[in-house]
Amino acid sequence: MSSEHLKPDRNLAMELVRVTEAAAISAARFMGLGDKEGGDGAAVDAMRAFLKTVNMQGTVIIGEGEKDEAPMLYNGEQVGNGKGPKVDVAVDPVEGTRLLAYGRPNSIAVIGLAEAGSMWDPGDSFYMNKLVVEKKAKDAIDIRLSPTENLHRIAEALEREVADLTVFVLDKARHRELIAEIRKAGARISLHTDGDVLGALMAAIPGTGVDVLMGIGGTPEGVIAACAVKALGGGMQGQRAPQKEEEKRRLAEAGVDLSEILTLEKLVRSDNTFFAATGITEGSFLEGVHFDRRGGVTTHSIVMRSATGSIRFVKGIHQL
Ligand code: FBP
Repeated sequence: MSSEHLKPDRNLAMELVRVTEAAAISAARFMGLGDKEGGDGAAVDAMRAFLKTVNMQGTVIIGEGEKDEAPMLYNGEQVGNGKGPKVDVAVDPVEGTRLLAYGRPNSIAVIGLAEAGSMWDPGDSFYMNKLVVEKKAKDAIDIRLSPTENLHRIAEALEREVADLTVFVLDKARHRELIAEIRKAGARISLHTDGDVLGALMAAIPGTGVDVLMGIGGTPEGVIAACAVKALGGGMQGQRAPQKEEEKRRLAEAGVDLSEILTLEKLVRSDNTFFAATGITEGSFLEGVHFDRRGGVTTHSIVMRSATGSIRFVKGIHQL
């Protein structure tokens, strides 16, 4: 097999942005309609149709769920045009389905790619604790330490005060203590009802207004975020944090060690990752889809590739 079949090629990044643009445009029609499934279904259909044209032999590792529950983009599904490099694929056609359904900011369509066999399959682990920072602070974090200790170490690495840091946290009851501790430590907090992939992305890119992502969110979202953090050279650690009894039971039965640190290397082993995201609803980081006069549509995306460390913001002007 020639080497071109082993390593994802550079053009993949730009092909991926077409996939997230298509998903975002389809999903955006569902903004505020209160129909979570409808918006997600439209994005899945669009993403799947565009994935067929991408030059890759992809296997979905992080998808919409198991085959019997998710007719499309299920875990294990083969995607791409069947040529080109073999890759693992992580998708979230609508990251923040509730944000979209209620017309709230920051829902995005995302995809991550890594060399075949390198993406962690979380199996029965649905929730994990996450800690994400930019490159300059990547060696300062240790998820086993308290949030306060981490904030001090991060502040030192970034040559700032703890009071200057902004921490992205999901606004969930499970984070009551975390929020209280961050406040006590003196850092600022940006609370969001949903969407910690965006939080991870913002934390890993300097100057976005978010310096750290902390707290428990979805494990699949953690793997997707890891593709982005890898591409950005940022720092990320996680730990399984089962929330539901069934999840706890299954992990205990499988003898899973909950204290294991899910390093960035564990989440995505390959150093060759790609990531693309397109805004669906208006956001602080990515603009939403705008429907203009006479079938014109504008989209705003970010796309990156770890091999070169390139980050591109792409403004798409489409004629439907
Ligand atoms: P969905 O798009 O699947 O609804 O996920 C949104 C999200 O907020 C993720 O960003 C986050 O990781 C996860 O849900 C948290 O799950 P929960 O809302 O169950 O706490």
